[in-house]
Amino acid sequence: MRRNVGRKVRKLKALVARALPPAKRTPKPFSPEVFKRFRALVRKREVIKERKKGFEAFFVRWYAGVASGEAIKKAKLAGFIVKKGQVTPDGTIARHNVEKLSVEGVSIARKCYESKEFDAKIHVYEAAALLEAKRRGLPVVDVVRVASFRKQKKGYIYTIMPYGFSTLAESQLRIASPKEFLSELGKLVGKMHKAGIKHNDLDLENVLWNKDPKRPSFILLDFEAARFYKKQPPFEKVQGDVGTLIESLCNPARGLGVFSREELRYFVDAYCKETGYAKEDVAKVIESAFPSQPLEELREEMRKNLLGKAGVE
Ligand SMILES: Nc1ncnc2c1ncn2[C@@H]1O[C@H](COP(=O)(O)OP(=O)(O)OP(=O)(O)O)[C@@H](O)[C@H]1O
Ligand SMILES: [Mg+2]
Repeated sequence: MRRNVGRKVRKLKALVARALPPAKRTPKPFSPEVFKRFRALVRKREVIKERKKGFEAFFVRWYAGVASGEAIKKAKLAGFIVKKGQVTPDGTIARHNVEKLSVEGVSIARKCYESKEFDAKIHVYEAAALLEAKRRGLPVVDVVRVASFRKQKKGYIYTIMPYGFSTLAESQLRIASPKEFLSELGKLVGKMHKAGIKHNDLDLENVLWNKDPKRPSFILLDFEAARFYKKQPPFEKVQGDVGTLIESLCNPARGLGVFSREELRYFVDAYCKETGYAKEDVAKVIESAFPSQPLEELREEMRKNLLGKAGVE
């Protein structure tokens, strides 16, 4: 009798499910083809696998001298770049520990993933994504090694720290001419979107530059959330990157690197030249990302509001 009821309920549920529109699919966590490419590199032995009990690592063969298990044993810890939970130069909270190592005189950043992220293999995905972005011709940091410690649920990704480069977040950006700086940056973001890559976390912490006022050049990092398309997607799919970058670039709280609306046209021109996207569409996203009031005005407004509430003014 009970079983009968159970069966009827299941039947009814199935009927209801068929009658209703399909539920929104939850987005896939990764671009699966990125893992596929990574496995192909392992098969071709361009990426070498190391395995022991409870431990697995991959290193790029070309970088064996600094990234093999043997080489990494000789690494010297030079300190933290960012500590999980601390405020970064951009005012955001760091989600990972990133340490600086020195191996054979080469500076390497080691980023640590824990627990859930480890289970989801995000560290391996980030390594594979960086390799794929490089294959597609983008200037990204060179990934040399990725390691997984199953018992501790910890994953590490190792990337080369390019000599003479700093993040945009920790730099005074106006040492370069805004025209040069914004045109080059627009060109780079355009190149990335043209190559079918959406970064998904394109803020000033994740862009390195050489601080050259005359010939600024950039290198991208932090590809853990990146998505890959087979070909250049429509602007709607990638506009989030432009919004995040401009918001971060013009954040008045930094007091640095603030660019005017007029100057941002250099970005739009270069970006659209590269991608062919419509300038009106890009300008709209930039307009919505641009702070609507200067910081001083915002502060003054907040002050009046508070005093008003306290009944002083
Ligand atoms: N290869 C590298 N070269 C130079 N600096 C690096 C490199 N890798 C990481 N860093 C520094 O470490 C910081 C944090 O690294 P990353 O952005 O990969 O992790 P994260 O910011 O903690 O991740 P999330 O943005 O998801 O919180 C970067 O903003 C940068 O300052
Ligand atoms: Mg980051």
